[in-house]
Amino acid sequence: MMQLDDKVVLVTGAGNGLGAATAIACARAGARIWLVDRDAEGLAAVAAQIEALGGTCGSFTANLSLRQICFDAVEAAIAHFGRLDGLCNIAGITLFHRICDVTEADWQKTLAIILSAPFYLSQAAIPELIRNRGSIVNVASSGGIKGTSYTVPYSAAKAGVIHMTKCMAMEFINEPIRINAVAPGGMITNIMGGNPIPQDLDFNLISRFSGIRPPVDPSEVANLIVYVLSDATPSLHGAILSADGGVTAD
Ligand SMILES: NC(=O)c1ccc[n+]([C@@H]2O[C@H](COP(=O)([O-])OP(=O)(O)OC[C@H]3O[C@@H](n4cnc5c(N)ncnc54)[C@H](O)[C@@H]3O)[C@@H](O)[C@H]2O)c1
Repeated sequence: MMQLDDKVVLVTGAGNGLGAATAIACARAGARIWLVDRDAEGLAAVAAQIEALGGTCGSFTANLSLRQICFDAVEAAIAHFGRLDGLCNIAGITLFHRICDVTEADWQKTLAIILSAPFYLSQAAIPELIRNRGSIVNVASSGGIKGTSYTVPYSAAKAGVIHMTKCMAMEFINEPIRINAVAPGGMITNIMGGNPIPQDLDFNLISRFSGIRPPVDPSEVANLIVYVLSDATPSLHGAILSADGGVTAD
């Protein structure tokens, strides 16, 4: 019996980086995966990898910045597989700007995907997850724990994810559902996409947040998420698990 046998898990951000690693790790652990991302090509590549492993998955291409789309993503998963046992909120973006240069659009789109989407996806999924004694894993960040320069919308939203996780855990303390967060440190992924760090920022301030240890391997975080989703952790509820090489211990 594998860790996630018989479970159906919805993974957002599944087209790249940590979400892709998590989807593949969940499939290796025996789960059927509902892959969600706005990147259709990334989803197709991850679906092909899961199928090559003998796993089962379905894909849903969508921008999760709207409440209704989040509900549609969850409903489509349940319609496709007939159930849902796990929700991994992983999709995200990071933008580096001085506070006074953050536009309203940057603020809104960062909060929409980092904080609002996990909230709406949870709203949509919780009744089904309670029916199945299921689990939510939110991906936060060391930036949601420790002060960072030039990423206020991102880091404030990740702090919101951490507190949302604790509040949801308390609200459902008497229900058969577990709600936790994993907070990675820096991982080498494509999260900056087409928005590299502007060269005129003070890199001394940025490097104060960098870890002393090497970057975190997304596959390590993915395996941690599988463990948190699994039935091996019945008392893990409302926990924020850091995987950051000690960055937030400083
Ligand atoms: N990379 C890091 O250093 C780091 C550190 C801590 C936490 N994280 C968190 O890990 C998570 C995954 O990031 P990653 O590093 O794998 O980056 P990534 O860019 O490789 O993956 C993010 C995925 O989210 C998807 N996405 C972004 N906005 C979306 C939207 N509006 N709708 C649907 N999909 C959307 C992207 O298409 C992409 O596939 C994020 O929540 C990020 O904040 C990353």
